[in-house]
Amino acid sequence: MRAMTAASPNSPTEIADILAFYASAGVDEALEDAPVNRFAEAAPRPAERAPAPVAPPRQEPPREDRAPERPAASPGLDASKVPDAPARTVSAAIPDEAQAALARQLAASASTLEELRQHMAAFDGCNLKATAKNLVFADGNPEATVMLVGEAPGRDEDIEGLPFVGRSGRLLDRMLAAIGLDRTSVYIANVIPWRPPGNRTPTPHETEICRPFIERQIELVNPKVLVNLGGPSAKTLLNTSEGILRLRGNWRVHTTASGIAIPAMPTLHPAYLLRTPAHKKLAWRDFLEVKAKLRALSQP
Ligand code: URA
Repeated sequence: MRAMTAASPNSPTEIADILAFYASAGVDEALEDAPVNRFAEAAPRPAERAPAPVAPPRQEPPREDRAPERPAASPGLDASKVPDAPARTVSAAIPDEAQAALARQLAASASTLEELRQHMAAFDGCNLKATAKNLVFADGNPEATVMLVGEAPGRDEDIEGLPFVGRSGRLLDRMLAAIGLDRTSVYIANVIPWRPPGNRTPTPHETEICRPFIERQIELVNPKVLVNLGGPSAKTLLNTSEGILRLRGNWRVHTTASGIAIPAMPTLHPAYLLRTPAHKKLAWRDFLEVKAKLRALSQP
């Protein structure tokens, strides 16, 4: 829930009262209804004591007046191969094809999961990073035969820097336990590694910018089986626009950039199951399919 903009309280007591009210009402985002350009606010002020000029209302300079900004380079990145980004004010605020191209290059250049994590931590091309507290890279065992991919971190995941540690994560742990798995025997990540503010749905642009990272992460883990938790994970990684209720329960294939075909089971997202417990039985069937597939794949 977001705090509403209110008339400025006057005293520390009033400020404390309004904050206590917000906390008890479940407010966990300090956002305004309308965006505020803090960069414009940070523009140089007139010298102290200089008479205040009577200036026309401040206007944003046209984009081409501002210095072009290149995304920060990451360790191991050959800067000469990074495509030139168009002029922009703040690279993170304008997701575009140049950022997606840089993400693809960074992802492809990572030869280990640790390198990939470092490249993602240094990447400033996704605006979600600006509001997230932490990069949520992964949890579990990188040697696992099963990799689960969700949509994007929520509040608890953002705080801890680990995927699926909140309510839906606890349900996921119980679902895994039901087929004899836990976080030592699976690897867990998300399509989007930064929490969208207020848990909003990531935009298609944000998803496209982050896609190369999760695709490379899958390629590096090279699991025997992929489990797509929810529609956004399934749609992004299985190249389909079908809804999750039609997709779930049927084996699909995720093909990596190097052409490896990984069997993938789309299933319902634990957060959806918390809201729709009657559908837990469907997810249970999907997890039994995963268990059977792992058994079949481990037969000589
Ligand atoms: N939902 C997700 O999709 N991922 C998380 O890490 C937590 C909740």
